[in-house]
Amino acid sequence: MNERVLVTGSYGQIGTELTLKLRSLYGDTNVIATDISPAPETLEVSGPCRYLDVTDPRQVTALTVENKITRIYHLAAILSGNGELNPQKCWDVNMNGLYNILETARTWKVKQVITPSSIAAFGPDTPKENTPIDTILRPTTMYGITKVAGELLNEYYKQKYGLDARSLRFPGIVSHEAEPGGGTTDYAVDMYVKAVAGETYSCFVTGETTLPFLYMPDALNALLQLSAADDSKLVHRTFNVTGFSASAADIADAVNRRIPGFSCSFEPDFRQIIAESWPRSIDDGDARNEWGWKPAFDLEKMSDDMIARLRDKK
Ligand SMILES: NC(=O)c1ccc[n+]([C@@H]2O[C@H](COP(=O)([O-])OP(=O)(O)OC[C@H]3O[C@@H](n4cnc5c(N)ncnc54)[C@H](O)[C@@H]3O)[C@@H](O)[C@H]2O)c1
Repeated sequence: MNERVLVTGSYGQIGTELTLKLRSLYGDTNVIATDISPAPETLEVSGPCRYLDVTDPRQVTALTVENKITRIYHLAAILSGNGELNPQKCWDVNMNGLYNILETARTWKVKQVITPSSIAAFGPDTPKENTPIDTILRPTTMYGITKVAGELLNEYYKQKYGLDARSLRFPGIVSHEAEPGGGTTDYAVDMYVKAVAGETYSCFVTGETTLPFLYMPDALNALLQLSAADDSKLVHRTFNVTGFSASAADIADAVNRRIPGFSCSFEPDFRQIIAESWPRSIDDGDARNEWGWKPAFDLEKMSDDMIARLRDKK
């Protein structure tokens, strides 16, 4: 049977690149890009783009049925920084959106649903180093609360209805194609963008703040590899994945070594507390064991690539 893939939140940081990758895998016309904001040109010219508000169950069902969808990558969400500015909206989009997707998938026999979770599922009581999958999950942000509840909802649909729902806890994603969408790790992207533009940067966390990160090519591979993984080998339904850990000062230094004269100051705002509630490093051993996860990029390799790609775009 022909695969028909629905991507929600397609025009965000991850969706913009994931949709193109899925189109090269499944065929341009078989991947329906959806969002509530205007489509970027790259997606509009390469395949179908539709308006879809995931908080409206009728829209989710109609689009799924009309397009005979077999797989869903559910990326529509309000991220951590924006979620703290509007917690009610964060709950509505992240929880009701996921519920509508899972209910539609269950009812219309969609084969698989992949949903990113986040290191925001962890909280200040979670062990900070080499954090495993199964640990204390007591987040203090609305975003984190929706991610923990979302992971559990995915698992519920698997055990109750047999729906093949899978999830990945992403760390901060660094990329050069689409702008990041209001998360707590956006500063990592901003540093490269500002440096290549010849501008200074004021970072909104302290230099010592250390978090796990993943470069976009690795993040896309993680989503596709998890989707393709043999179900019988999966012990978990939610996985930790990470590329490397770095402090904000480490990243500024990596940029500075490549673009001498780049000046970065550190002026923490409300996102400092969010960053401090998350782990500094992540144990992704279960993803490695259960579906062969292995990232390709560390901080140095990523910095070379980010700067080269951003210079190409100028
Ligand atoms: N980017 C990261 O660093 C990161 C880290 C961890 C987890 N994640 C997760 O990955 C997923 C994708 O993240 P992203 O970085 O691409 O986010 P993003 O903010 O860049 O994109 C999200 C998209 O969702 C859309 N959206 C918002 N409300 C919607 C609604 N009601 N209906 C349909 N679309 C709606 C937005 O217009 C936006 O294009 C999210 O689940 C996020 O929590 C991202």
